[in-house]
Amino acid sequence: MSAQSQPDVTIRVATPEDSSVCGQICYDAFGTLSAKHGFPSDVPDTQIATAIMSALFSHPGFFCVVAESEGRIVGSNCLDERSLIAGIGPITVDPRTQNHGVGRKLMQVAMDRAKERHPAGVRLVQAAYHNRSLALYTALGFDVREPLSCVQGRPLNRNVPGCVVRPAQSGDLEACNALSRRAHGFDRGTELADGLRQGSALVVERAGSITGYASSLAFFGHATAESNVDLQALIASAETFGGPGILVPSRNSALLRWCLANGLQVVQPMTLMSIGLYNEPAGTWLPSILF
Ligand SMILES: CC(C)(COP(=O)(O)OP(=O)(O)OC[C@H]1O[C@@H](n2cnc3c(N)ncnc32)[C@H](O)[C@@H]1OP(=O)(O)O)[C@@H](O)C(=O)NCCC(=O)NCCS
Repeated sequence: MSAQSQPDVTIRVATPEDSSVCGQICYDAFGTLSAKHGFPSDVPDTQIATAIMSALFSHPGFFCVVAESEGRIVGSNCLDERSLIAGIGPITVDPRTQNHGVGRKLMQVAMDRAKERHPAGVRLVQAAYHNRSLALYTALGFDVREPLSCVQGRPLNRNVPGCVVRPAQSGDLEACNALSRRAHGFDRGTELADGLRQGSALVVERAGSITGYASSLAFFGHATAESNVDLQALIASAETFGGPGILVPSRNSALLRWCLANGLQVVQPMTLMSIGLYNEPAGTWLPSILF
């Protein structure tokens, strides 16, 4: 495709049957991008990419679309509508069709949908080394909010004195939502309930009360806590983190230093971006790859 040619692109709602084609595109898009920049891919194989697409395309809390050109799917995007803030991603375009306007169309449709549903804000996380996505999202109105470090490994210290980490139970939901509302101004209860169903959600207790939680300690999980000590206890409890790693706000230097001193490695830099309501969290937190 020449640099000038603009493919004729139509966008439609994604169905679970699109998962394998979109999974292949997702794997190819992240694989090509990361190899070009010397980073590991966010998605290790097509099976995992397809499983992610299938989970999102069939989840009632997500609005997902595919882009088609000349009768074939060339990309997809999703809008996480599970909370007061919406999250965009993963967005991927077939490497053979990239840089010809498909990504902008897929973003615009997700943003139009958000306009109809009026979340208080829309957020996303992008690979900080990727000039094109940074330029595209900035041009579309997203502001840079937080530099993130994706970290991975097995923590050397497996517990933090005074803190007890245990699997979350449905009776913990309200305490976790209250923590989130205090830190962020909104809760992520539907997401946490997903984590409970999947058995990945954790809480940390200190001096008899819940002082932090994680929907999962993974790329697609988020965590909120009263203090770094609580987050450290959650992180220390994990054997390893799901997907490429957890996302540590790099400006939380004390937490990032603690991660490094505990044997964790930085995998890649990332950036949290937003449109609409954004407030500095009044607590400690780990965003998910969606926000
Ligand atoms: C990111 C991605 C979805 C964008 O889709 P795309 O179809 O390639 O992007 P588009 O052609 O629609 O838009 C790219 C825009 O960035 C601009 N751009 C590209 N590189 C740029 C640079 N270095 N500086 C400034 N602008 C740049 C283009 O001119 C275009 O601008 P325009 O919309 O104003 O014309 C796609 O490249 C992709 O799948 N990448 C790999 C996976 C990935 O990174 N996903 C995003 C995860 S956050």
